[in-house]
Amino acid sequence: DSKHLYTVVVLGASGDLATKKTFPALFGLYKNKYLSQKTHIIGYARTKMNQATFEGHVSKHIKLKSEGDKAALQQFLRLCSYQSGQYDQDNDFQILEKHIEDLERNSGATARLFYMALPPSVFINVAANLKKNNYREGIKIRLIVEKPFGKDLESSRKLAKDLGALFSENEVYRIDHYLGKEMVKNLMILRFANVIFGSVWNRHSIDNVQITFKEKIGTEGRGGYFDEFGIIRDVMQNHILQILTLVAMEPPVSLDAEDVRDEKVKVLRFIPPIVKENILLGQYIKSEDGKEPGYLDDKTVPKGSKTPTYAAATLFIENERWSGVPFVLKCGKALDQQKTEIRIQFKDVAGNLFSNLSRNEIVIRVQPNEAVYVKMMNKEPGLGTKTIISDLDLSYSSRFIDIAIPEAYESLILDALNGDHSNFVRDDELIAAWKIFTPILQFIDQGKIDPIPYPYGSRGPKGVSEFVAKHGYTRGQQEYVWPQHSE
Ligand code: BG6
Repeated sequence: DSKHLYTVVVLGASGDLATKKTFPALFGLYKNKYLSQKTHIIGYARTKMNQATFEGHVSKHIKLKSEGDKAALQQFLRLCSYQSGQYDQDNDFQILEKHIEDLERNSGATARLFYMALPPSVFINVAANLKKNNYREGIKIRLIVEKPFGKDLESSRKLAKDLGALFSENEVYRIDHYLGKEMVKNLMILRFANVIFGSVWNRHSIDNVQITFKEKIGTEGRGGYFDEFGIIRDVMQNHILQILTLVAMEPPVSLDAEDVRDEKVKVLRFIPPIVKENILLGQYIKSEDGKEPGYLDDKTVPKGSKTPTYAAATLFIENERWSGVPFVLKCGKALDQQKTEIRIQFKDVAGNLFSNLSRNEIVIRVQPNEAVYVKMMNKEPGLGTKTIISDLDLSYSSRFIDIAIPEAYESLILDALNGDHSNFVRDDELIAAWKIFTPILQFIDQGKIDPIPYPYGSRGPKGVSEFVAKHGYTRGQQEYVWPQHSE
């Protein structure tokens, strides 16, 4: 599969996602020679642009770190071309077809990657037009698609059915970019290649699991989009749930994509829908100093909207390994810091040999400052036998000094080019995920939960500490601050 030479078509090429993520990732792959130096890239969108404007657009978010980078960008731009067209016009897709064929004749490409960086409203139109006008026997087709994959179980099923009528599951690559993050890709290795972790990874040793996603920024500029979805659909039902799946699933038979995804679906099916007692919602208001706006101050957000910008939810996995262990998922915007981490908290040590103890924790820091560290008790050095909390710390910045960590999108686009589905979301996985969230989302959409206000830049709504404590999380008796903590 990796032998194929591709033509890449980015649909929605003038949008935010394409400029911020897709083009920089394609350039990163090109620069590091993971993309054939003959790969043509075509941008397609409704906006009219000439070549120079398009090049400006492609380069806008590309960071150049050296003279070599600058030269590589010039070469890369020579491979990029743009065509404007409507999303529902046959004719425009025929013009696109001719353009692709001209380039294929020149490069000898035998495969096409269509990258759909599109709003959901035009998604199926475009897929249908591609199928009709740009699908060629003998040419390999791959389709990268981006969330939202529907809004609930029903709309997601409909989308899957409509897309399934056009392209086979094998041709479709559903992106959840968290699956391309280095630390998320590390989860299977940590669990299944280490006896010391693998053997305690269950309800007998683990008390609770916390998965936390925090962002400093609010919904600035995206209020209109965001209000329709809310934080649960935007982040929790996809990114955080994917992390949970990798933390909780059983070892797969092999690393083949279908074996891995079988296990992911299986663990999701053990999770009953979230109940309202196990959810806490928040919405940010003006910052305490009055400088940052509240969510409702955004003109694109409907007055009085109850859309949550913060959510904490507790899930249970009703299987042999996890029964009774709360998985607390927390995510929010406009908070005090940016971080994503997984925190596995172990049970109390039995007996009363020592006093002043804190529980063991394994913390997997996804971003920023990738790290795995284990909080553990130690003897305070010196005379006496006092306990002191300490850690084993694998911080990437000090351990893997010369290794660059690839961007999530680079890693995933490369997987798609190589035909590897392991880090993409399968259709039945999506259905299983929506089943967990749809009932509570319907309840929230009916306006039945008032989100708790929290100031922009704060730690989140009041009540979060009580919420996590109710679900098992115990603050240790000793104060602990991770030494690499950047804030
Ligand atoms: C996106 C969400 O999927 O993920 C955004 O729509 C969020 O709201 C983003 O900001 C977070 O991604 P990252 O890679 O910046 O952590």
